[in-house]
Amino acid sequence: MVAKVRPLIAGNWKMNGLKSAALREVKKLATRMSKEKKPGCDVLICPPAPLLAPLRAAVKGSRVAIGGQDCHAAASGAHTGNISAEMLKDAGCGYVIVGHSERRADHGESSKEVRAKAEAVHRAGLRAIICIGETGAERNKGQTLAVIGKQLTDSLPKGCTAKNTVVAYEPVWAIGTGLTPTAGDVAAVHASIRGRLKRRFKDEGVKMRLLYGGSVKGSNADELMAVENVNGALVGGASLTAADFWPIVKACL
Ligand code: PGA
Repeated sequence: MVAKVRPLIAGNWKMNGLKSAALREVKKLATRMSKEKKPGCDVLICPPAPLLAPLRAAVKGSRVAIGGQDCHAAASGAHTGNISAEMLKDAGCGYVIVGHSERRADHGESSKEVRAKAEAVHRAGLRAIICIGETGAERNKGQTLAVIGKQLTDSLPKGCTAKNTVVAYEPVWAIGTGLTPTAGDVAAVHASIRGRLKRRFKDEGVKMRLLYGGSVKGSNADELMAVENVNGALVGGASLTAADFWPIVKACL
């Protein structure tokens, strides 16, 4: 039986956004959410760090949550330029993305480091969105399920629950490229992830949210969000304006 899981539509703004336009967009999103009688999903925006506090202040009390894009594994200390999960909590964040493929590629983050960051997110009492996904070369060699299986084992710490952890499957070759796997391919990968989560985390693994990410937009959201074991989306480019993001949110409302 497939568990009923409340979807999450999360926007990852990456290194995009300046204050006045950003405030305008999140306020539009909060207003649209406030007009829904009983929204069927949660909505999250993960802006660059300097925008966390102003955006959080703008949407406080609304149905739009704010989250960080990364954190350091330590709670504090001599780590110039880094931000801890405790600081993100202090800024009003509810979630933190860890292990995004751009962090894994551009900053050489290993699954072991990702796991330590996820532990830090849990320690701070926040929800970790842990990203995994194969490269195009790995897919072409038929290694997708093996690669994501290993990333899952190595990146998810002990103690993951449906409440404190969200897993995001993001094929690296689909991020920012306009390419997406077929619904059938997404179904196969998500079924494999669900199976692994169930085996390791039992009932929590059955209920854990499993997002798809990589070139999600208004025109493909309905199809992707209807796939079994897809409990929402992690959206980059199409999350930057309320006009582009809203049709994706609507696919889960
Ligand atoms: P994209 O990015 O929607 O722009 O492909 C997704 C992501 O990196 O989370």
